[in-house]
Amino acid sequence: MLVSAKEMLQKARDGKYAVGQFNINNLEWTKAILLTAQEQNSPVILGVSEGAGKYMTGFKTVSAMVKAMIEELNITVPVALHLDHGTYEGCYKCIDAGFSSIMFDGSHYPIAENVEKTKELVKVCAEKGISLEAEVGSIGGEEDGVIGMGECADPNECKAIADLGVDMLAAGIGNIHGKYPANWPGLSFETLAAVKEKVGDMPLVLHGGTGIPEDMIKKAISLGVAKINVNTECQLAFAEATRQYIEAGKDQQGKGFDPRKLLAPGFEAIKETVKTKMELFGSIGKA
Ligand code: 13P
Repeated sequence: MLVSAKEMLQKARDGKYAVGQFNINNLEWTKAILLTAQEQNSPVILGVSEGAGKYMTGFKTVSAMVKAMIEELNITVPVALHLDHGTYEGCYKCIDAGFSSIMFDGSHYPIAENVEKTKELVKVCAEKGISLEAEVGSIGGEEDGVIGMGECADPNECKAIADLGVDMLAAGIGNIHGKYPANWPGLSFETLAAVKEKVGDMPLVLHGGTGIPEDMIKKAISLGVAKINVNTECQLAFAEATRQYIEAGKDQQGKGFDPRKLLAPGFEAIKETVKTKMELFGSIGKA
């Protein structure tokens, strides 16, 4: 069932768990995540970066694929199709393409411009029943060409954006896209607590979910994080399983080169990764 992310995140916030956003890249990714969510009776958010949208030939293709897959696989758990780190133009393209949720990443604009553009999108999204995520501060590292310096969010700026009526807020708290460096100092819980104090019960979003230690994930959830984004970890799991298959020479045995066989270990590895994350985030059985 394709839905906005609003209600599932409010439930997660109240129930002290988080819904996972898992980024998709192709049919295998989408199918693996949807089937796992259904098997685990968990709500789920499918994240689509602008780069991945382009790779899949455009947002209309993505939207049509996800909607058809939900129907043909009989997926009854709540699923949100969400634009990840959207540009202003990208947001409108996804609204037109039938996404049920979007993120406007205005974090690189001066705060007044971020506020102005977010305000406009709040109105458009509300009219269409689409949920909206905004960002303050920035997520360190690089994801599909979106580069952030990783500065922690200013709690007052978070309040200014939250007061506009967005449904969820991503605040930079020292989190980074991709693998964390060995000298990473960890999440800034001081910033997270200060943000929470200012924005009240606004569901908060933790980007850069790959490689954050379990105790930090649990503490973040206890401080108001209701959505956690994971991308790189599924990519690493897929690549590792595929490499093992090829290194074992299985692609050269019988019809092991058939893509349905060649991609199967990677597909299973994504399913396992998603399940493990859902367990950690506490969303299993919460559909
Ligand atoms: P990772 O790639 O670090 O898991 O981050 C995902 C993310 O935050 C998507 O917006």
